[in-house]
Amino acid sequence: MPARRSRTLFCVACAWLTGVLALLLLLGGGQRLSAEEPAEKSTAAAQRYEIRKDHDPNGIGKFYFGREIAQVMSFHGAPWLERPQREEEERLSLLVDSLELKAGQSVADIGAGSGVITIMMSRKVGETGKVHAVDIQEEMLELLGDKLNQLDITNVKLVLGDVKTPKLPRGEIDLALLVDVYHELEFPYEMTLAMANSLKPGGRLVLVEYRREDPQVPIKLIHKMTQEQVKKELSQPEFGLKWSKTIDTLPRQHILVFEKTTK
Ligand SMILES: C[S@@+](CC[C@H](N)C(=O)[O-])C[C@H]1O[C@@H](n2cnc3c(N)ncnc32)[C@H](O)[C@@H]1O
Repeated sequence: MPARRSRTLFCVACAWLTGVLALLLLLGGGQRLSAEEPAEKSTAAAQRYEIRKDHDPNGIGKFYFGREIAQVMSFHGAPWLERPQREEEERLSLLVDSLELKAGQSVADIGAGSGVITIMMSRKVGETGKVHAVDIQEEMLELLGDKLNQLDITNVKLVLGDVKTPKLPRGEIDLALLVDVYHELEFPYEMTLAMANSLKPGGRLVLVEYRREDPQVPIKLIHKMTQEQVKKELSQPEFGLKWSKTIDTLPRQHILVFEKTTK
């Protein structure tokens, strides 16, 4: 083979090899990019919460938007939820009236506890309606179950949720209520997303929280929330929620009403 021809063949082979190498590098680069995506997502999820050593003894040392999450109230505290003076202190009847529930609606009492408010809601939605009473403590649901049997109430469904989801059907709930619960959710982001997804378009998510703005409200600081804090936490676009009003007719608590605006 003449020397000139073999040099040409050599150059063609080199060019081909360089092309193949460049292609492999490009593909490798592409793979690295897509592998980084889930890592970024999990970093974002991890950064949502902050763990601090120095914290309130009644909190869990976990912070969300700068707020420490409170310890969950044990079922041993059920008698406190049932105390006779609660109606006077918290005006529960006024609270439930202000929700303007209608017969036939499907509603949820999330963090129902021993079910004081569940029972009031069950009377408002009537036999054609339904209350999903959700709690993460089986003992609370057992207390509520006994009361429902005694009172012959049949429109309440007991739901054992978990810390990240209330296990409600998607898009079926007219109103989800949390009375004195949101501040103790261990995973507020995940719970809010799941609760928002359970609502019908136009459905309402209602949070009742002790007013932190008011130093006269006689309850530990970690069990109180400001309106501003609640609104900040619930305004993340993926929830599809819009603050509609705050009802301040109760002696100690805010009633914050959010509406589901998107699917
Ligand atoms: C302070 S009690 C309020 C009970 C009831 N709402 C009332 O006002 O009578 C808070 C309740 O929320 C429940 N809870 C806490 N985290 C929860 C979660 N992720 N899902 C459902 N219930 C939860 C607790 O087990 C407890 O029964």
